[in-house]
Amino acid sequence: MIVGVPKELYPGERRVALVPAVIPTFAKAGCEVLVEAGAGEAAGFLDAAYVEKGARIIADRAELFRAAGMIVQVLCHGANDKNGAADLALLRPGQILIGFMRPLGSAETLKEIAATGAIAFSVEMMPRITRSQSMDALSAMATVCGYKAVIIASDLLPKFFPMLTTAAGTITPARVLVLGAGVAGLQAIATSRRLGAVVSGYDVRPAAKEQIQSVGGRVVELPLEVANAEDARGYAQAQDESFYRRQREVLGRVVSESDVVISTAVVPGKRAPVLITAEMVKGMAPGSVIVDLAAERGGNCELTQSNRVLVEHGVTIVGAFNLASTVPYHASQMYARNLAAYVPHLLKDGALHIDPEDQIAGDTMVTRDGEIVHKLVREALAPAAEPARSANP
Ligand code: NAI
Repeated sequence: MIVGVPKELYPGERRVALVPAVIPTFAKAGCEVLVEAGAGEAAGFLDAAYVEKGARIIADRAELFRAAGMIVQVLCHGANDKNGAADLALLRPGQILIGFMRPLGSAETLKEIAATGAIAFSVEMMPRITRSQSMDALSAMATVCGYKAVIIASDLLPKFFPMLTTAAGTITPARVLVLGAGVAGLQAIATSRRLGAVVSGYDVRPAAKEQIQSVGGRVVELPLEVANAEDARGYAQAQDESFYRRQREVLGRVVSESDVVISTAVVPGKRAPVLITAEMVKGMAPGSVIVDLAAERGGNCELTQSNRVLVEHGVTIVGAFNLASTVPYHASQMYARNLAAYVPHLLKDGALHIDPEDQIAGDTMVTRDGEIVHKLVREALAPAAEPARSANP
């Protein structure tokens, strides 16, 4: 199998799908790796480092696509909604494409990938089972985002994070509130703690309480009854609007007492719930910071604008956008390791081999033979024709 690593096309994207260190793992699985010239440069991986590990550098993108039986990318068409379509003409029937494709948020574009005849695997659809933990790219990128959100907040906050006892008096620690304690939220709690802040966390899923405590956060207890907080896969379920209204009411005080709010609350396949209203922002002290990691999904704060930093009522609101790309070295390394675990799983003797019983291949394959083959994506495309199901990533 010849695996091609193109340079990412998305404007400003700095990650790369494979890093030099994983090339030997691909070789062991019967793959030769071709890398487009300069593909890893923005992440800190120079062409020479790939060559040293046994990859070949290809100057021309079209040539790379022609030579490769499998293309691995970070943002494929769909997840790259700016210029990802440019690669469609380079794909051919039977060619394997692996990467982020936003299959549910952008199901229409998946039709275009299907039309090329390529066999596409979307990393967002990875099942959350023990066997596939090392392949879980969504969790890897969420870890990066949770960390970076805290670094951004600490930079913007006109205060220290840690408590300091100095000759100039004692400095009280910053108070950080993390809303949503999934992978990104837990990393944000852990990172804030490492910087010395006093951190609290809240999540609708009861199981999150123990996880918040395990990374050093205090659990915010709200007088709220949560019905069916999570689905069978461990993801949050959507609540009705009266729940969200009540949640905002009881969160008001906690938010107003926080110097920093990092919000990560999302529900698969839905717009992110609004947890922080404009009124609540007004109630925060001037200089406070909100980093809204749900910005790309509509935002947890009513005032958030995706990919923008605003100051409203003296509060800085960061509409966090593609944060994983801002830590490109480690984000690429983590993603490459995810792929180094996942790709060999799809191959036998260097050729595509899909076991029909295998959940990992079955859940992640989204197009084949010109068709969209994933049940959830088909439902997303034709919601009226097929019964609605809420559980999806
Ligand atoms: P996510 O990115 O889908 O959502 C972020 C968090 O927001 C979730 O914890 C969710 O419960 C929370 N949330 C949603 N609505 C909320 C509201 N109104 N108020 C407060 N919080 C709200 O979550 P992520 O990071 O994908 O994790 C979801 C679950 O999956 C967790 O239990 C996590 O531990 C689990 N997980 C399991 C894996 C595995 O078994 N391989 C891998 C990664 C995560």
